[in-house]
Parts: sequence; C-alpha cells; structure tokens
Amino acid sequence: MPSTIRVDVHLQADDLARALRDDVFLGLGERPRTLPPKWFYDDRGSELFDLITRLPEYYPTRCEREILEREAAKIAARSGADTLVELGSGTSEKTRILLDAFELTSQLRRFIPFDVSEQTLVDASQAIAAEHPGLDVHAVVGDFERHLPKLPTGGRRMVAFLGGTIGNMDPLQRKAFLSDLRAGLAPGDSLLLGTDLVKDPARLVPAYDDAAGVTAEFNRNVLHVMNHRLGADFAPDRFAHVALWNATEEWIEMRLRSLDDQTVSIPTLGMSIDIEAGEEIRTEISAKFRLAKVARELDATGFELDSWWTDSAGDFALSLAFVR
Ligand code: SAH
Ligand code: AVI
Repeated sequence: MPSTIRVDVHLQADDLARALRDDVFLGLGERPRTLPPKWFYDDRGSELFDLITRLPEYYPTRCEREILEREAAKIAARSGADTLVELGSGTSEKTRILLDAFELTSQLRRFIPFDVSEQTLVDASQAIAAEHPGLDVHAVVGDFERHLPKLPTGGRRMVAFLGGTIGNMDPLQRKAFLSDLRAGLAPGDSLLLGTDLVKDPARLVPAYDDAAGVTAEFNRNVLHVMNHRLGADFAPDRFAHVALWNATEEWIEMRLRSLDDQTVSIPTLGMSIDIEAGEEIRTEISAKFRLAKVARELDATGFELDSWWTDSAGDFALSLAFVR
C-alpha cells in the first residue's frame, strides 16, 4: 500500500513575518537584548544545524542515537502507540530508528512531524513516506509554543521531543509548553523526551563553540534571517559568537557580541538600534538537566515518568512518560 502525505500549514508567510517582527521588536528593545532561538531555522539555519550534529565536539546527537539504537524496540512496545508525533522534527534523522522499530511491531499507522521550518519538514516527510509504505505522514508546519492545539487527534499517540530542544526554553516556557502538550493528550498517550545532562563545562562549552566555527555561523544566521525577512542591515561579521556556561542556571548561553559601536536599521519596524562595542544579544539558552529535575517538571505538568535511559557515557537521557 502506498503512503499518503498531507501537510497542514499553520504558519503562513505573513504570520511568520508578523511573529518575527513582534519578537524582534520586544527582544531587541529590552535589556539584556534577546532573540528567541526558533529564528535560527530558515533553510540555511536548518542545514547548519545538520552540520553541527556531525561535529566532533557536539556529542548530544550521537548520544541520543546510541540510546535509540539500544532501546527503540522497547520504547515502541511500551508506548503501545499507533501514532508517532515528533515536535521540532527537523530532518527526523534519528526518528528513523524509532520508525524502523515500530515497523517490526506493525502497530504504527501515522507519523506526524511538526516543525517551524517548512522546507526541511516537507523534504523529511517525503523521504520517510518513501521509506515506509503504508504509513500516513501528516506533517504540520507550526510553532510548538503556539500551535499544539492544531495537532491532529485520534489514535494512541507517542509524542517524541528529541535532541534536547526542550532545553532551548526557559523554566516558565517549559512549564507552559508541557502543560499545553498534556492538555491535548489522552490517557494512554506518552511523551518521549530527550534531555542533555549537566556535565563538565570543559566539554559543554566546546560543543557550542566548535573549532570549525559552524556553531558561530549558525548563531550569526539569525542576523541574516532578520536581514532577509525584515530588510534589516545587520553586518554579521561585526558580531562575535559567544558561548558560556551559566553555572547557576545550569544552561549554556549563546550570545552575539558587537565588535564595535554600530547603528542597525530595521525598516519594517521603523526601528534604528544603537549597539555599543561589547554589547551582547542573547540568542539561545540550552539548559542541561538532572534526573530529579526532569521527573519534577514532568510531574508538575501531569506526566508520570515511566522509564529513563542514558547513553553509556551518561551524557544524554531519554525519558518515557505517560499522561497521568
Ligand atoms: N529533533 C531534531 C532537530 C533539533 S533542531 C534533532 O533532534 O536533531 C530543533 C528543531 O526544532 C529545528 O528543526 C527547528 O526548526 C525546530 N523548532 C525550533 N523552535 C521551534 C518552534 N517554536 N516550533 C516548532 N519547531 C521549532
Ligand atoms: C536544537 N537544540 C537542542 C540545539 C542545542 O544543543 O541546544 C541547538 C544548538 N545550538 C547550538 N548548537 C546546537
């Protein structure tokens, strides 16, 4: 039986432009200046992230793949799911390990990848549909902080949120996100959550400041996105990439530090910003976790932790939780 592919778009170009304008207006107007990490991921940003996952310093992808290769069959069986939802799915590369495990159990009917980056999502959906005859692929273009209520319903669902992307939200955003997700799930549904773990900053910092400079380019890509989509005139080479470990919050911060005094104009916002030499824009946090914190945050939002697996080095964890 051939697969079917359907794509729901909840972020049209004008909606995307409005959301970017709002985030830039608010984030660059406040001190410290911030920008939400979702704006890294235009086509070029998604490609750069893909390159990051292959860097020697960037261990999370390899560690999560190791866990999936070891545990995917158990996860598929334990979840009992006939529908796999993947939030922030990107290329869905590691997800193929899960899909193969589900195929052996013949229980999976539907795959629902969900991402803000439309072209990456469509490419991944087509590849997966071709690899899994009979699977219904129902892709959703949306923002997982706004459009969870638009997720297709029905069936017994397992929601995979891999890669440690939950760490790119701050604690309040995580709480709102997990509560919203829980509200749309039914008894028997589950969440498969990937979290990077707290470790020596001597390993964490290079993972976000690699020798080849790919993460620096990924970080500066948000400036290109504002130039393309808002007509701004940021000069990316006048910003240095900064990655530092915040030991109090237990998260990595990525920032862009202005190399000199500069004035940037953002015509679509009627905005002109004076940025002093040394001034920074925070572009991402990447929180690192411990078992107790993951269990507590799941419990506080209506999930019950069922299983916790780490890679052999103990660098990264996957949690399976059921709705309570
Ligand atoms: N899950 C993949 C990709 C992680 S990169 C992995 O584990 O390797 C983060 C992904 O989340 C990107 O594909 C990005 O486009 C997507 N993303 C980031 N913020 C998002 C948001 N607010 N809503 C939907 N997708 C988002
Ligand atoms: C998608 N997310 C989990 C990545 C991370 O590690 O926080 C994004 C990233 N930022 C820099 N390198 C990778």
